[in-house]
Amino acid sequence: MKVIVTKNYEQSCKTTAELILDQVRTYPCSKLGLATGGTAENVYPFIVDACQKGDVDLSKITTVNLDEYMGMDPASEQSYRAYMDKRLFQPAGIDAARTYVPSGKNDPEEEIALFNEKLYGDGHLLDLQLLGIGVSGHIGFNEPGELIAGVHIQKLDESTIKANARFFASEADVPTESITMGVGDIMKAAKIVLIATGENKVPALRKLLMDDEVTAQVPATGLKMHRDVTSVIDEELAEKIGWKE
Ligand code: F6R
Repeated sequence: MKVIVTKNYEQSCKTTAELILDQVRTYPCSKLGLATGGTAENVYPFIVDACQKGDVDLSKITTVNLDEYMGMDPASEQSYRAYMDKRLFQPAGIDAARTYVPSGKNDPEEEIALFNEKLYGDGHLLDLQLLGIGVSGHIGFNEPGELIAGVHIQKLDESTIKANARFFASEADVPTESITMGVGDIMKAAKIVLIATGENKVPALRKLLMDDEVTAQVPATGLKMHRDVTSVIDEELAEKIGWKE
């Protein structure tokens, strides 16, 4: 596991964006796995900016997003489709046909089949997967407990519902289930870049970076078995978990 410690969250976002931009500059036809959430949110403006300045060509990439809430209509403002359209796809002029964000509104079996088709149908595995990390230690929406390799419907952990209540009118409005890539799908990406910040991520980051245990109780620890993972954290978080270069 490679760890990059930056001055602050903004620098982490910039560094993370640069890793993604380097990937696309080296290989313009890259297939990217993308994440939503509050942490990843501020990575996208750096990518959009590079694109608008002509510093990168995003016209040949394809993208697959990690997850979506079950029951969420892609047309809703709270959907991960709307999040991606607003923050990356539309401002960067990426053709919607080259992007996939799972739908929480479709029949689950049909959507799982479509998700797998998008991940594997073209024979091109993800070149880079961007990840955030949950308070629960989840990656995608793979919550503590039983780890599932493939795309599946996942009940959300209480801590995830509480953490994500900030995006909804109330905690009771947070959907309780999601459709997500499995841990195995994430692990098939050639490169993984994880960005984390904030006090509430300290326990999960400690389990990820400060010991050798791989446990289904902290799904992100599975990343210790991947050969090319870069975690981008800020000094404040590094200090709180006791990370030393
Ligand atoms: C989002 C995703 C989640 C988030 C995680 C962190 O697509 O898969 O794993 O990355 O919940 O969310 P924030 O950044 O809001 O704390």
